[in-house]
Amino acid sequence: MAKLKLGVLISGRGSNLQSLIDACTNPDFPAEIVLVISNIPNVQGLERAQKASISTVTINHKDFESRDAFDQALDAALCEATVELVCLAGFMRIVTASFLEKWPHKVINIHPSLLPAFKGIHVHERVIEAGVKFSGCTVHRVVPEMDAGPIITQASVPVLDDDDADILAARILEKEHVIYPLAVRLIAEERKIG
Ligand code: GRF
Repeated sequence: MAKLKLGVLISGRGSNLQSLIDACTNPDFPAEIVLVISNIPNVQGLERAQKASISTVTINHKDFESRDAFDQALDAALCEATVELVCLAGFMRIVTASFLEKWPHKVINIHPSLLPAFKGIHVHERVIEAGVKFSGCTVHRVVPEMDAGPIITQASVPVLDDDDADILAARILEKEHVIYPLAVRLIAEERKIG
């Protein structure tokens, strides 16, 4: 069966991108990355993609007058590469509703909390401040409201008494690297419909 073509959108380090790159090296994995787009020039994630011989493009949001114009450039690059599923992986821009209308049920994101708890940014600081005993990560479909789309899969970790945000983030990141490829596999194998 043909592999599902992924476009991965990043803004930085790209460790989740790396987990997808690594998963795709397994001949049995039902997806392949055909394009990596970064909105920030020269980030580590671009180097990771180039090392894996994956096409990359930088579409710098600062070069566009509006969010719509930026999202149209994203759409054009994704279409040109015949992407079928868009994976946001540390992509620090909110995509517009009109972009999502062009990609219905075809945009997914990974978020470092057990959604619907702790949407948004500075998640780990807020988790520790709240005193909750478990946190984790979520892969979800992207809808116009931030971090609110249908949940595809999650993993949980304990929050320990002496955790700081960095320690907790690292514990969760290990799980992110497991569940993002898993979610892509589920979608590619059509075991999970959104
Ligand atoms: C991850 O924690 C992800 O959940 C969040 O942003 C971070 C990106 O990390 N959306 P990386 O760039 O994949 O290393």
